[in-house]
Amino acid sequence: MISALSSIVPSLVSLALLAPVPSLPQDLEYQQEPKVLGRDAPGLQQWVMDLECTDLDGAKRRLSAAFGEKGLVVAMRDPECPLSKKYSPRLRVLEQEAREMGFGWLYVGMDSLEAARTDRDLHKLDGDYVFDPQGLIARELSAQTSTEVFVIDAGSTLVYRGMIDDQYGLGFARIAAERHYLVDALESVSAGQTVSAGATVAQGCKLDIEGPERSARPVTYHNRISRIVQNRCQSCHRPGEAAPFALMDYRQVKKRRSMIEWAIEDGIMPPWFAEPESGPWANDCSLTDSELRDFLAWIAEDAPEGEPSQAPLERTWVDGWTIGQPDLVVTIPKPFTVPAEGVVDYQYFYAQCDLPEDRWVKAVELRTTGGEVVHHALLFLEAPKKEGGGRRNRNFQTGGETFFASYAPGQPGITFEAGTGKLLPANSWLKFQMHYTVNGTETIDETSVGFVFADEPLIEVRTSSAINDGFTIPPQTFDYEVSSEFRFPESGRLVSLFPHTHVRGVRFACELVTPDGEVQDLLSLPFYDFNWQLNYRLANPVFVTPGTKLRATAWYDNTPENPANPNPNAAVRFGEQTWEEMMIAYVNWIPSAPVVIEASSPAPEKR
Ligand code: HEC
Repeated sequence: MISALSSIVPSLVSLALLAPVPSLPQDLEYQQEPKVLGRDAPGLQQWVMDLECTDLDGAKRRLSAAFGEKGLVVAMRDPECPLSKKYSPRLRVLEQEAREMGFGWLYVGMDSLEAARTDRDLHKLDGDYVFDPQGLIARELSAQTSTEVFVIDAGSTLVYRGMIDDQYGLGFARIAAERHYLVDALESVSAGQTVSAGATVAQGCKLDIEGPERSARPVTYHNRISRIVQNRCQSCHRPGEAAPFALMDYRQVKKRRSMIEWAIEDGIMPPWFAEPESGPWANDCSLTDSELRDFLAWIAEDAPEGEPSQAPLERTWVDGWTIGQPDLVVTIPKPFTVPAEGVVDYQYFYAQCDLPEDRWVKAVELRTTGGEVVHHALLFLEAPKKEGGGRRNRNFQTGGETFFASYAPGQPGITFEAGTGKLLPANSWLKFQMHYTVNGTETIDETSVGFVFADEPLIEVRTSSAINDGFTIPPQTFDYEVSSEFRFPESGRLVSLFPHTHVRGVRFACELVTPDGEVQDLLSLPFYDFNWQLNYRLANPVFVTPGTKLRATAWYDNTPENPANPNPNAAVRFGEQTWEEMMIAYVNWIPSAPVVIEASSPAPEKR
């Protein structure tokens, strides 16, 4: 690794020393790490009602009057809460920034009119300020604490709730904030993108609002279902994508309602297989409990349309690469024709990159042109046999680290976290594994991979594998269990897990076993479906110490009851063909960042 690194930046390596990772801060980090909340955070991605409120001069006004062209920020205030006090000067600055970006700003005081006025004057707060003694706004937003902020977009959808930034919390203060959640959210909304950290925990004084929860309202297409469909279905159910029909407007959703009812009630759609207790996962596309309940209630009520004025902003989808313009694109050597009917075995294509030197990859994406007929694509760094590649030359037991990227319907490309990425060695051979399904029309696919390179060396996101290639699944066996392990050689942080079997795999589980034997469940797929090769990306960091093991277990159904089983009378071993089996959990993880100590002269620009 060092040699690859030094070939790109000899100057940096010779100037810097890699010191051992300090052990203490990790525990501290645990405490202070801002928590991203689950996708079912109250009110998130829901329509916000246009409430009536009272300003500090006693005048009645509507929430909508406070909106800017881009939307509205609502900031809870409790002038007696220590954390609220600390954030006062920051809010004053943010308020200006938000306004310059086109957002309105609304402070909400609930304590007394007097206290709200003093707060406004003392901290010279310029934004609109309302007094809400009954907590109507707090209840509509399900506000929890005195430092919580909310971003509502111009379509009245709550798109962010939580902390302002990570500078102050209960029992800690940083010299400066490192993560600027509110500003990030405003920038995303301005750019028409979804907010990546939709909800975080805002530490502060509890608000303890009396009275009922959020007021109940009848579910309509425009006030609720449209937003669910945008967030959970349209990544695939839009023209040109993998799903067979579009769900883009009221008519299209209403027309399919009985099939939708069946598919969502049975958990077939959206395709997501992790048990709800595991995670949270950054790319979870499943319906939350409240979304499922509301979707079913809406169908039961005969799918009312509601008020078009309550419709969300139209979602913009990137046409083309989601990672931005790649620096290198490699396409399979010749287009593949997927027949109109039948079953297509896994196809393997090889292509060599024309790359004179090793490069660090900060984003990677597989793009297919076959739309509906491509069910998954996996990319490995591996040469064909005649070029010296093939299974015998891979060292599976040390991780067989050749897995590089994957495509599954609806999943965008991967942009690695800032400062991290993967290494693409000079003139690498790429192996594409393609899983095609027929759709009644002969279709041509020409899959490509795009790489965006970094100019500086990155901390490597490693792909290791917990693999077992020594099993035999007996004929006519149900629930045959095969396990594998990967031992982490050093401390680090898990990024994602990618379980992989072929057609006989029916269940899959991954857990962590610490050196002293403690077991932590990570991922459980009670109904593994080989049709959906998904990379489960952790939303919150999971740390590992040296010697911790990732233990994976897969269960196989080699009976005729398994409709995908090509031959229940075969004894099935490890192999790359569809009729053979696999047992791998790919583990993407980042070793703890080495601390770079700069030499005294001359200092490199980048740390
Ligand atoms: C990750 C991509 C993806 C997402 C997200 C997704 N679908 Fe699908 N959907 C598909 C594909 C692909 C099919 C075709 C059947 C298959 O391949 O399993 C499908 C089929 C369906 C079907 C037909 C039933 C069937 O199994 O053939 C319904 C109904 C459906 N989807 C509804 C939804 C709804 C409603 C949502 C959102 C709540 C949703 N889907 C989200 C990809 C997706």
